[in-house]
Amino acid sequence: MTKSNQVLIFDTTLRDGEQSPGATMTHDEKLEIAELLDDMGVDIIEAGFPIASEGDFNAVSEIAKRAKTATICGLARANYKDIDRCWEAVKHAKSPRIHTFIGTSPLHRAIPNLDMDQMAERIHDTVTHARNLCDNVQWSPMDATRTEWDYLCRTVEIAIKAGATTINIPDTVGYTAPVESADLIRRLIDTVPGADNVIFATHCHNDLGMATANSLAAVAGGARQIECTINGLGERAGNTALEEVVMALKVRHDIMPYTTRIDTRKIMNISRRVATVSGFAVQFNKAIVGKNAFAHESGIHQDGMLKNRETFEVMKPEDVGLSGTSLPLGKHSGRAALRAKLGEMGFDLADNQLNDVFVRFKDLADRKKEVFDDDLMALVYQNDSGDDRLKLKSLRVVCGTTGPQTADMVMEVDGADVETSATGDGPVDATFNAVKAIFPHGARLQLYQVSAVTEGTDAQATVSVRMEEEGRIATGQSADTDTVVASAKAYINALNRLLVRREQSEPGYDVKGVSYKDI
Ligand code: KIV
Ligand code: ZN
Repeated sequence: MTKSNQVLIFDTTLRDGEQSPGATMTHDEKLEIAELLDDMGVDIIEAGFPIASEGDFNAVSEIAKRAKTATICGLARANYKDIDRCWEAVKHAKSPRIHTFIGTSPLHRAIPNLDMDQMAERIHDTVTHARNLCDNVQWSPMDATRTEWDYLCRTVEIAIKAGATTINIPDTVGYTAPVESADLIRRLIDTVPGADNVIFATHCHNDLGMATANSLAAVAGGARQIECTINGLGERAGNTALEEVVMALKVRHDIMPYTTRIDTRKIMNISRRVATVSGFAVQFNKAIVGKNAFAHESGIHQDGMLKNRETFEVMKPEDVGLSGTSLPLGKHSGRAALRAKLGEMGFDLADNQLNDVFVRFKDLADRKKEVFDDDLMALVYQNDSGDDRLKLKSLRVVCGTTGPQTADMVMEVDGADVETSATGDGPVDATFNAVKAIFPHGARLQLYQVSAVTEGTDAQATVSVRMEEEGRIATGQSADTDTVVASAKAYINALNRLLVRREQSEPGYDVKGVSYKDI
């Protein structure tokens, strides 16, 4: 199976990525991200962990029903209940996959308290059970890179004999290094009977910053599936970033002659969307998708770029979906110009959606001279909905050099206007205190993050606010040229989302909360 030069891209943004504390996505957001992944050519989408919660089960089932081309995979621990539940969710897909795993390293074996022989039997039984339900079964020895070599070979052989079609070798704690990563896959393929009949996958975490290098090295060693997430989202330092491995394989095809099915021009859009819905902003200097990845500030660099762009660029911005010649819109631009511009950016909006964006665009253009692509993206993705219980009607903040600052606010709560005045240590604190006075709640602020969408003092600020209430987490976002207004709207947006979650009583899940004792 390593003969082919095609590398399958397995995206786990919706499972391993969403597992990252605070990155919880709503049902609709998961469907939207899955559709974008499918459209960009991802081969396998790991859509969730169906046993973990009702919400996860529903999202995986719905994604399975809607998937066009991608294989839809769900995660299951090594027990029949998990595997059955996983199958119930993925079976709707044209191409379903069950992914079952167990921790095989000494530290992980201690969790379910199984000795080596008992675990070997468990692997045989659960992979056989999964394979009786589904033709496409992936098996992972969690913490493979810290598992004894002989035991790793033994368990991989059992899984292959029991019918696994993909063997994933996770570097669960981001411990391996490129030479070792290539060597491990190569030796497994050379040693384990039946290895030639399955696909080997690599699943790297980024604790030492080597996830991309380790994944590419694993491919050199014979792996033909890379597991990754958009923006490298994931627990701790995250997973391998999809955009990095895909662009590395494309740009350095001369020394890594492998192909993927990914339409790289869709990278930027999905990266921004994942950053928005997860509330995990992309660092400015992040490879491929960072704001500065294609920015050339210094005189020497700009001079070189004008003469020949290859002086300082190894890939074209267009290749990752950044439009090279972005002409801004202004307050005289009409609906047709807006539609054309959004079309160029890859948005195909229905008439009513375009009308909503047009109203927001006019409002912004009145306050901001030039409206750039990034501004428009922020407008398209403004996520307050007509059904929201809480809405900001007006806000006036008085700031003095000595403080305290005062916020006068009118908010609509379930259709009725409520007015208050509150003070605080700074304009944002005063504003949040006003929201709390109007709508008292026990939710705790976990994260408050501001970033400028474009340059200039009239730039829009995007604000992310993450709130937690009894284990439920919600992230709210908003953009405005006024940072305090954007903060108020993002805070209210997060509260609205928490209210929806409270009503649906759909707690976000944490895989650590799902006990291995159930195995
Ligand atoms: O990192 C890991 O080991 C995992 C497994 C569940 C594959 O995410
Ligand atoms: Zn992982």
